[in-house]
Amino acid sequence: MKIRPRINRWTQARRNLVLESSINSSLVQPHFVVDGQGVNDEIISMPGIFQQSVDVLIETISKDVEFGINNHMLFPVIDSSLKDPYASAAHVDDMPLQNAVRLLRERFGDSIVILTDVCLCTATDHGHCGVIHNEVIDNDRTIPILSKIALSHAKAGADYVSASDMMDGRVKLIREELEANGYSNTGILSYSVKYSSSFYGPFREAASSSPSFGDRSSHQMDIKSGYPEAILEATTDVQEGADIIMIKPAFTYLDVVREVSKEITRPVAVYNVSGEYSMVMAATTDVQSRRKMVSEIFHSFKRAGADVIVSYHTREAMENNWF
Ligand code: PBG
Repeated sequence: MKIRPRINRWTQARRNLVLESSINSSLVQPHFVVDGQGVNDEIISMPGIFQQSVDVLIETISKDVEFGINNHMLFPVIDSSLKDPYASAAHVDDMPLQNAVRLLRERFGDSIVILTDVCLCTATDHGHCGVIHNEVIDNDRTIPILSKIALSHAKAGADYVSASDMMDGRVKLIREELEANGYSNTGILSYSVKYSSSFYGPFREAASSSPSFGDRSSHQMDIKSGYPEAILEATTDVQEGADIIMIKPAFTYLDVVREVSKEITRPVAVYNVSGEYSMVMAATTDVQSRRKMVSEIFHSFKRAGADVIVSYHTREAMENNWF
């Protein structure tokens, strides 16, 4: 399998994301992209986080960039009328997410890092992260679709396609699909160690991606699982060609971040997920108390070994010079 260490060095912005020791340059702001015009809907369980149409998103990110927020992760929110059992809408080239990536690339060139979420759950009518066959999530029917989604994001201009699905073997297939189509400089951020966690609730509201039946425990990792499985998942993804490895959620798995980061040779990211964000927002009433809490949290991520931090707190932290 092709391992391309140059992918993380390709632009100054990518180098800043993975190689700087400062907290500021490693922060990634998530966004939820919807269809329409002038849409700016706050997510009830995540104060300060919005579903935005492309026009509003571009203006939001332009403002973010003025505050030095250079890393942006985009999640598609797909209209329910377009959902089907195979997530077909996720790899249509002129969907809002792909359009947003194209416009951002035009406006900002290589000065920002654009990461895009690759999964089926926002585009399937049943809300699962894979194709259902004989009542189970069928791994090998799902991964070719994931690679199509990744290719569609790469064509739009994503720096990193971020596979959040937890199917086996998808990093290899995505890497092959990118290589075969001339996108050898597009990186893969793999959610390698993703637990079947109760901390994703608010996100599922934000992305309208709750499973309509069952849960995600046949593919996401058991919360009781120990280090060997985490290390297996991370090292497998590195061997398959992942450029950044993600561990998720963050708070309750910092020990895993530490163990995995000792074992692997690629940058490690943590996802400070929606439930963690909502907890902090509920526990703080003013900016100063939030500043202290978030500072303590981000330093714990760094201490555990995280190079990259995906967090909904990014905007407030950067706008107010918390670090
Ligand atoms: C999609 C995906 C999820 C998150 C990121 N990508 C939800 C899930 O797996 O159910 C969660 C992010 C968050 O909670 O902030 N597979």
